[in-house]
Amino acid sequence: MTDGRIRTGLRRPTEADQPPIAAVVDHWFAGRKVWPLVARAWFRHFAGTSWIAEDDAGRPRGFLIGYRSPERPAEAILHLVAVDPNHRRHGLGRTLVEAFLVDAMAGGAAVARAVAWPDDPIAIAFFHSLGFEPEEGPGSQRLYGVPAWPDYELPGEDRAVLVRRLAPGDEGAVENRTID
Ligand SMILES: CC(C)(COP(=O)(O)OP(=O)(O)OC[C@H]1O[C@@H](n2cnc3c(N)ncnc32)[C@H](O)[C@@H]1OP(=O)(O)O)[C@@H](O)C(=O)NCCC(=O)NCCS
Repeated sequence: MTDGRIRTGLRRPTEADQPPIAAVVDHWFAGRKVWPLVARAWFRHFAGTSWIAEDDAGRPRGFLIGYRSPERPAEAILHLVAVDPNHRRHGLGRTLVEAFLVDAMAGGAAVARAVAWPDDPIAIAFFHSLGFEPEEGPGSQRLYGVPAWPDYELPGEDRAVLVRRLAPGDEGAVENRTID
């Protein structure tokens, strides 16, 4: 998966990327305690389906951790994506997700899934702009105006499940772009 599809400024993460990402990720998520979601195992075992962007000095600017579901092989799971707050709205988040989707489509995945906090309108808008829509189903309800599941992870931890269908040939719709 590390062929010519790699875009300018993106590379696969290594375990050495985990400490600097773990050090900043709660800040990048505006104070949410998300560092347990970037444990070392993600960098050890899912590097081939994940991406990192860094600046010229080697500092992380953004990352995406994803994987192909072992239980549901048709599903590509976007575990976490984030961009340095000082480098947002320049297309880096989109570039990371598109790189993930290209991998997923090349591997034959039929759907990509992500979860987000329904009270985070920026994350919801971001995924919407990338063709992800909130899933609805038994137990879902509108939370903060978004279809979501209350207590999805544990009591008080609501989540929206964002889904994008993938079709063969969609790769062409995913643009190559240069990051500022
Ligand atoms: C969500 C996040 C990754 C977006 O990164 P980014 O590099 O700023 O995103 P992009 O510049 O690629 O934006 C792509 C599109 O998303 C939407 N978007 C992004 N930020 C937005 C905002 N603050 N308000 C409204 N829409 C927004 C826009 O449609 C944007 O396209 P446009 O700039 O052409 O209008 C970033 O805000 C972040 O790291 N947030 C904290 C972590 C998080 O919530 N992750 C998602 C849940 S795992």
